[in-house]
Amino acid sequence: MEVRGETRIDGGQAHSAVKGYFLSSASWMVVGTLAGFIGAIELVAPDLLGNIPWIVFGRIRQVHTNLVMFAFVGSGLLGVIHYLVPTLVRSPLYSERIGKVTLWLWNLALVAGVITLSLGDTQNREYAEMIWPIDMGVLIVLALIFYNLFQTVRRREEPLLYVSVWYVFGGLIFTFLTYFFGNAVWHPDTGSITGMPDAILAWFYGHNILGFFFTTFSVAAAYYIIPIVSRAPLYSHTLSLIGFWSILLMYSHIGTHHLLQAPAPTWLKVIAITGSVGMVIPVMTVLVNLWLTMRGRLGNIHSDIGGKFVFAGSVWYLLTCLQGPLQSLPTVQRLTHFTNWVIAHAHMGVLGFSGTITLGAIYFILPRITRKPLFSIFLANLQYWLVLIGMVGFFTVLTAAGLIQGNGWLNGEALYRILPQIHLYMVLRAGLGILILGGAVIGLYNIYRSIYGRERPRAHSAER
Ligand code: HEM
Ligand code: HEM
Repeated sequence: MEVRGETRIDGGQAHSAVKGYFLSSASWMVVGTLAGFIGAIELVAPDLLGNIPWIVFGRIRQVHTNLVMFAFVGSGLLGVIHYLVPTLVRSPLYSERIGKVTLWLWNLALVAGVITLSLGDTQNREYAEMIWPIDMGVLIVLALIFYNLFQTVRRREEPLLYVSVWYVFGGLIFTFLTYFFGNAVWHPDTGSITGMPDAILAWFYGHNILGFFFTTFSVAAAYYIIPIVSRAPLYSHTLSLIGFWSILLMYSHIGTHHLLQAPAPTWLKVIAITGSVGMVIPVMTVLVNLWLTMRGRLGNIHSDIGGKFVFAGSVWYLLTCLQGPLQSLPTVQRLTHFTNWVIAHAHMGVLGFSGTITLGAIYFILPRITRKPLFSIFLANLQYWLVLIGMVGFFTVLTAAGLIQGNGWLNGEALYRILPQIHLYMVLRAGLGILILGGAVIGLYNIYRSIYGRERPRAHSAER
């Protein structure tokens, strides 16, 4: 597969939406990780920051999760799909203007989200905390993006629809439906239904948003970037289609594995557990396909900073999705549920897998749309190592803390009596957070300069 023709439309404004999404992603990564860092300090020393209402743990945690997920990873991936689809179908983006409208509306929704969540205005359902008017904004953005990209495909010159295009449209359709139903938008005041059915609905949403928003677009990016960087055709088109259809089949109904300790119907739990184990099929077909494509060519991957990030993301995908089925088993979850083990898994999935692929895709695509080298390969490498070391550290420390919590609780210890035992781990987590936060700041500087800076002498930078 080779890089497809660049597109220039709307009076030289080509790719301005993509650049805007990338810059938003890099900026939000700084704000979002800062919020996580504040939360981590509060878990170490609850009184240290005083009792400022808008950063108390319950609020800053929601600001953190919404920002790192939707604003950092989400904005980055939305930028990626605005590049992937036109490039793969060899047709300019239907409307750069609609692209920019979605960019501004998306950022407006995110700013409104930070303000309202900080003020305590929340619907308190995990990852669906933002209030109704903001949900409406998100749905409008998703619909407009679908329209814009669909019109682009309708005008395509390339008859073959590559698998990345399938993933993008599958992702857009399923994310829209998941967001619409999951946020119970027909109940504007609460964004929820009631009782156990609402818990089931909330985790239908909570899990599917990970599977259909973050996973599909990340996989689309990996499927596009790995063959180019490896300089080899995709190993198997058939495997890629099996992976696509099986993820739609498996992922859509396993959210109840978050409710194994709750009074959800047993038949639903059985379906959720079986489907969770079955998730090995879509995950492994993608990974086997990608890794056989790059077989014997790891050198090529590692000489490209974008490819390097994407490859690391694919390894995190394997680890996340080996751990996921494991912790869907009731015997394992008795020990791990509600502990920091799950927080470790969450960071590995969202930052390790999806976030790392997002960063890789940004570094891969930027030189191609700015037509100049990245500002600094060195800084991108530095960010790579900071995020990688931070993530490995997070995983180790949080998993250990989780096992201590789980064992203590199973032995009948009261929740508060375990806290001194995990204190050191919370300190280490906050320390490791500085690495990731530092990586975010470096990334913002590098991405900003790559878009707006003047070209530097080649000795300091390199174009792929
Ligand atoms: C871009 C990178 C990051 C991503 C994608 C990310 C993602 C997440 C997610 C998904 C959760 C929810 C976990 C769950 O409920 O199971 C979470 C919680 C949290 N994260 Fe992050 N995070 C990132 C960086 C950081 C950093 C740098 C810190 C600073 C130390 C941090 C600290 C926290 C804390 C304190 C929580 C709450 C944990 C709890 O409730 O016990 N995160 N993060
Ligand atoms: C094979 C695929 C996967 C399976 C079977 C799986 C399974 C699970 C299970 C059972 C839990 C709940 C654990 C508990 O509460 O005790 C969980 C939590 C979570 N997973 Fe996964 N997972 C998978 C892949 C992923 C991926 C790819 C991501 C990220 C893109 C991800 C992100 C998360 C997050 C953020 C949570 C925390 C939710 C919360 O706030 O409680 N997972 N996963």
